[in-house]
Amino acid sequence: MNKLLAPSILSADFSDLKNQISEAEKAGADIIHVDVMDGHFVPNITIGANVVKHIKKNTKLPLDVHLMIDHPEFFIDDFIDAGADMLSIHLEACQHLHRVIHMIKTKKNVKTGVAINPATALTNLVNVLDDLDFILIMSVNPGFGGQKFINQSISKIKFLKKMLDERNLDIKIEVDGGIDKDNIKSIADAGAGIIVAGNAVFGNSDIQSSVKELKKSL
Ligand code: DX5
Ligand code: ZN
Repeated sequence: MNKLLAPSILSADFSDLKNQISEAEKAGADIIHVDVMDGHFVPNITIGANVVKHIKKNTKLPLDVHLMIDHPEFFIDDFIDAGADMLSIHLEACQHLHRVIHMIKTKKNVKTGVAINPATALTNLVNVLDDLDFILIMSVNPGFGGQKFINQSISKIKFLKKMLDERNLDIKIEVDGGIDKDNIKSIADAGAGIIVAGNAVFGNSDIQSSVKELKKSL
């Protein structure tokens, strides 16, 4: 299966966002990962739907919007209207996960994902698996870029891969947090189909060579 690289703009220079995204696109990035944080679900604040709308006008790549917010149900329409092609909500942020999943699933042209924190068991997803296009395994605690990859995430990815294979489900596994050129291969080999990288892409002045190096290691 083709493994996809999704640079996260969290580590980009936001005053130069259009150019930085364009550099990543030119170098072969597959998806742009957009981290939305509310200062409640995670201890950091980033951007809202208006910024997503403007990014959408400036890239041809699909936008993968990762909502790290409480009450995501209030904002789903805004982010879909802004141009999200993939939208993930956090399992831990939803009292009624099935309902929120279906709010996304019933919309056209958007893939439905659930993100899951390092300490949350994958078995919590068993009853909603059939409804998902992708599952985002957090390999750091969400909130910040540039953190260290949590090594237990490898066995979590393998466990999920097995769970999906046993059920014959075609659900993409996305992994997010602490991924760099040294660990990207082991994460892909464990079963990840979409790899998010923030600091490893935008933390370097040469964005194009960072993207190319990560893609080559996949
Ligand atoms: C963290 C975000 C990640 C973050 C990854 O809460 O969800 O997408 O940008 O950044 P790195 O690759 O620097 O860990
Ligand atoms: Zn993310």
